[in-house]
Amino acid sequence: MEYERLQEIYGRDEYYWGTEPNELAKRAVEFAPERDDLSAIDVGAGEGRDSVYMAERGLDVLAVDVAPNGLEKARRLAEERGVAIDTEPADVNDLQIDRPVDVFYSIGAVQYLRPENRSAQFDHFKQQTRPGGVHAVFAFVDREDVPPAPDWGENEHFYDPTELRTYYGDWERLYRDEFVFDDDSGGEPHQHAAVEAVYRKPAEEL
Ligand SMILES: C[S@@+](CC[C@H](N)C(=O)[O-])C[C@H]1O[C@@H](n2cnc3c(N)ncnc32)[C@H](O)[C@@H]1O
Repeated sequence: MEYERLQEIYGRDEYYWGTEPNELAKRAVEFAPERDDLSAIDVGAGEGRDSVYMAERGLDVLAVDVAPNGLEKARRLAEERGVAIDTEPADVNDLQIDRPVDVFYSIGAVQYLRPENRSAQFDHFKQQTRPGGVHAVFAFVDREDVPPAPDWGENEHFYDPTELRTYYGDWERLYRDEFVFDDDSGGEPHQHAAVEAVYRKPAEEL
């Protein structure tokens, strides 16, 4: 979706993506290393449903999104739930993470990472992850049997179904699923194909 449309959607009172966490957020927390001071980054956090879920489970969360209206709602949701999150408006294409993270989490946003920037940005995100930390990523993938969604924007770029693995060849894969799901966002029923996966950084640097 284009920036202006996202800002407009996020300017409304209702939560477009809902306030319940995605299943991948639950997996990310389950796979997080065991330590008291876990920190997480949610890239493309939208209105914060998953950031707030992770904060409720005691993680120190930074929610990042290109749309400030989404981040404002994320802060509001956190306040309503009695937790705190940090927020930062940023574009995933030039995002620089300046704190060590244990959980890197991103659903529905890495397609905004332009193909020429992917290798360098995934390397950076991996470097900023503490040993034993995890990356939980959901990516829209290109499949012949699933035409692009009507609201797929020119700023969005599909992944090949095997592409994520190429960025994480040196990490352990803890989980992967590839699936097609129905969606009626934008009012027009359509389908998406996606891959989601969780990878763990080796406990000691290679
Ligand atoms: C499909 S929504 C998912 C939102 C949230 N992760 C959730 O599941 O509720 C994708 C999000 O990516 C954000 N986004 C779009 N372009 C971006 C960019 N270049 N950098 C960072 N985030 C971006 C959008 O504002 C939107 O909130």
